[in-house]
Amino acid sequence: MDNMIHSKKILFSLTFALLSIPINCQNLNQSFRPGQIWPDNEGKHINAHGGGIIFFNDTYYWFGEYRPPRSEKDKSRYGVSCYSSRDLLNWRNEGLVLKVINDTASLLCPGCIIERPKVIFNKKTGKFVMWFHHELKGEGYKAALTGVAISDSITGPYRYIRSIRPNAGVWPLNFPEEYKKAIPNETVLKNGSDEWILAVRQGLILRRDFKGGQMARDMTVFVDKDGKAYHVHSSEENMTLHFSELTDDYLDFTGRYIRVLPGESNEAPAICYSKGKYFMFTSGTTGWKPNAARLAVSKKIFGEWKASGNPCRGTVDENKITFGSQSTQILPVENKKGEFIYMGDRWIPDNLADSRHIWLPVEWEKGLPVIKWYPSWNLSNLK
Ligand code: GAL
Repeated sequence: MDNMIHSKKILFSLTFALLSIPINCQNLNQSFRPGQIWPDNEGKHINAHGGGIIFFNDTYYWFGEYRPPRSEKDKSRYGVSCYSSRDLLNWRNEGLVLKVINDTASLLCPGCIIERPKVIFNKKTGKFVMWFHHELKGEGYKAALTGVAISDSITGPYRYIRSIRPNAGVWPLNFPEEYKKAIPNETVLKNGSDEWILAVRQGLILRRDFKGGQMARDMTVFVDKDGKAYHVHSSEENMTLHFSELTDDYLDFTGRYIRVLPGESNEAPAICYSKGKYFMFTSGTTGWKPNAARLAVSKKIFGEWKASGNPCRGTVDENKITFGSQSTQILPVENKKGEFIYMGDRWIPDNLADSRHIWLPVEWEKGLPVIKWYPSWNLSNLK
């Protein structure tokens, strides 16, 4: 009898243990561990780089660059991946939601580059709109286009619409009249020289691209309190940021745009709004190599953006390279009103799939957002 009770007990414990496995698996991650492998629900490192997150129906959705792991032979498996989570720590792989199109006539054919995808929800149309930096097959980073895709469902599939260079034939709202005409000898100035940088500030590259549309490389999309959305991107050979208003359906540019920090070489823009001010994290332009982050502040989206120093609060060496990362988004945490997470990428150029996610809590110092290094932290660190 005793034996029977004993074996029943064992059976009960075993069943219980087996039943609890999937539950435990789904909640493997107990803290953010920047720089470490971040396993998804299948135990694989989250493959969503240069990403952006939106909160919808009590769930976070993380979109990012899917970079084929070295072992992957199928080159057509490339595009934008999506993961979902309720706690920001444990993510379920929702698969590739925008894929390259197996047709050489399509701009989105295999071999093209898709970077920094961001999805926003349009309340008026009920559609999910994805914008991404798009470069054409075999052309490196020359095309400098922005692409747009649309879906009825947040987890896709997203239908590719088109890629463009924005704002063809229109001047920025904050562009002085006297800059609209070429400066004598401007085309012979040496790239990178002080004279050339001054000429760029005064519209050298903007004028060059006026007819065909402005370059759009590193980008983000920001939805303001009033529902208006802005496409923010590195333009003018990565020398100047452009903030461009999107149409009400978020699928096109209205032609209203401003230049921000002209001639100051900013990339990787990431914007948040808090207590009456807009804050923007950017990086300098050193390709995959990390450099010192920069913060800029403005009272209005289309206002005067003022450079406000390096937001990193680490050692001198850590601050020089933003803790080994480059910004991609400043994520508002839903149940912690007014609190944000800095999301960055630690790129591994020869194995991009393995690039690490650097997430750090945003802290505040004299009204400005700053970041410090924590090897392990969780949402209770956000006050
Ligand atoms: C970085 C940029 C990345 C990627 C890389 C390519 O500056 O932020 O998104 O484009 O250059 O070298």
